Amino acid sequence: MNSHRCTLIMDIPCLWILTAFCIISVYQVNTFLLAPVLQLEDKIIDDESTEITCTLPTNETLDVKLKIFARENFSVCENDKGPPPKTTCKLDATRKMHGMEVTCEAHFVAKSKTEIIYVHTEPEFTDCPEKVTWVEGREESFKCKAEGYPPPEVNCYFNKSKVKEGEKFKVYRSMTGRHECKAVNSVDMTSQKVTVTVEYKPKILKMEVVPPAPVPKGEKVTLTCAAEGNPPPTYIWETPSAAIQTSPDNRTITIQGVEQGHYGTYDCRAQNKHGEDVQIMDINQPVMPKILKYEVVPLPPLSKGENVTLICDAKGLPYPTYTWETPAPDVTFSPDNRTISIQGIMQTHQGNYTCIAQNKYGIDTQRIFITISGTNRGEKTAFATILLMLIPAGFMHCVH
Ligand SMILES: *[C@@H]1O[C@H](CO)[C@@H](O)[C@H](O)[C@H]1NC(C)=O
Ligand SMILES: *[C@@H]1O[C@H](CO)[C@@H](O)[C@H](O)[C@H]1NC(C)=O
Ligand SMILES: *[C@@H]1O[C@H](CO)[C@@H](O)[C@H](O)[C@H]1NC(C)=O
Ligand SMILES: *[C@@H]1O[C@H](CO)[C@@H](O)[C@H](O)[C@H]1NC(C)=O
Ligand SMILES: *[C@@H]1O[C@H](CO)[C@@H](O)[C@H](O)[C@H]1NC(C)=O
Ligand SMILES: *[C@@H]1O[C@H](CO)[C@@H](O)[C@H](O)[C@H]1NC(C)=O
Ligand SMILES: *[C@@H]1O[C@H](CO)[C@@H](O)[C@H](O)[C@H]1NC(C)=O
Repeated sequence: MNSHRCTLIMDIPCLWILTAFCIISVYQVNTFLLAPVLQLEDKIIDDESTEITCTLPTNETLDVKLKIFARENFSVCENDKGPPPKTTCKLDATRKMHGMEVTCEAHFVAKSKTEIIYVHTEPEFTDCPEKVTWVEGREESFKCKAEGYPPPEVNCYFNKSKVKEGEKFKVYRSMTGRHECKAVNSVDMTSQKVTVTVEYKPKILKMEVVPPAPVPKGEKVTLTCAAEGNPPPTYIWETPSAAIQTSPDNRTITIQGVEQGHYGTYDCRAQNKHGEDVQIMDINQPVMPKILKYEVVPLPPLSKGENVTLICDAKGLPYPTYTWETPAPDVTFSPDNRTISIQGIMQTHQGNYTCIAQNKYGIDTQRIFITISGTNRGEKTAFATILLMLIPAGFMHCVH
């Protein structure tokens, strides 16, 4: 189908006769064979320019390069992509070119196709640390890389819940433990245990004083501070006196005999690299009860039918408890027993009202004598003979 036209000129003896060979390069393009066709002028004359053309006999648009070669250089060559593809070169003929070979080569641009081989492999952990340490409250994820083909899916399991490899979550101390990560693909499955340690800042759970404050002089007292935290916290105390000794682990202070300088504020500070917690406790000296205020509302003189309140207020450490002695039992106590009230006061309510304030270390009492005028309120000023006697407790005593 492809004809090659080789023109052989055997002309006048004085003229150089050029013999051209068509060297046919055969390339397979798609399914048919193509060979370039080289065409020389019928008669090439010395000292004249001649044209050499090379074409590829196709009307398809092909990615091809046609190149004409000879021993001598051509003055100019032009390429035409076609179709048909064509190259034309000009040659200034000289007698020394007689017998010169001219060759046209068709270079088809190489076409290629690449495929990749995929080898199915079982999953394998490549970077999955067996031990990890997290800090509570921060965002973390399981970093557990696995390889294999198809690429495996990696999931890690807390208890029963599942998290993807690399998926972020907030860390809680309950996540401490041994967990399992699994890498799965269509070929197989593999798993690895991951031990998680969760660290967190200290929190003081208990600060205890034995015996509970207040503490009398000379007594033995122990202060203990207990905190949770990971790493385990260290303890630092701030105490009223520098002379106070702590236990080797700094968690406990023991004072064999309390002195004046031991009273005050004790700070326990539990620290680790993630933070600290502080709690404060006071060690106070006991104070015997002392009634500071004892009053009747409304202010006497009192008339029959009035609503009357008696208020007793004492200092003391521990805080005193209150008891009363009253002429009649039909009085109402406030929840803390500091106040009593009488609705519609009557003659039977007349008498001594005693407030008794008491704690472990002492007692104080005060007495008021309440007189009630027999008539109604309008005339009370005339009759009111209020005897308000504040009798300082004579029998305040120390239990200790
Ligand atoms: C080339 O062109 C000729 C005439 O124009 C046509 O008959 C022939 O089918 C074409 N060949 C191809 C491969 O297109
Ligand atoms: C052909 O050209 C090259 C460079 O373009 C040159 O080096 C060479 O000498 C030339 N050959 C002739 C025969 O002129
Ligand atoms: C695991 O599950 C148990 C019971 O379902 C539960 O008590 C425990 O708190 C869980 N642990 C974690 C770390 O979620
Ligand atoms: C106890 O506290 C002292 C001073 O604050 C410190 O030097 C020492 O290392 C602490 N000991 C422990 C076990 O924390
Ligand atoms: C006393 O209190 C009662 C009930 O709170 C009330 O009904 C009454 O009016 C009061 N009496 C006086 C004199 O304020
Ligand atoms: C008040 O007094 C009663 C008896 O007088 C006693 O039973 C009660 O515990 C006291 N309440 C308080 C808060 O002291
Ligand atoms: C009230 O107390 C005073 C002083 O203790 C006493 O003299 C008086 O008799 C008492 N009155 C009554 C009614 O108990």
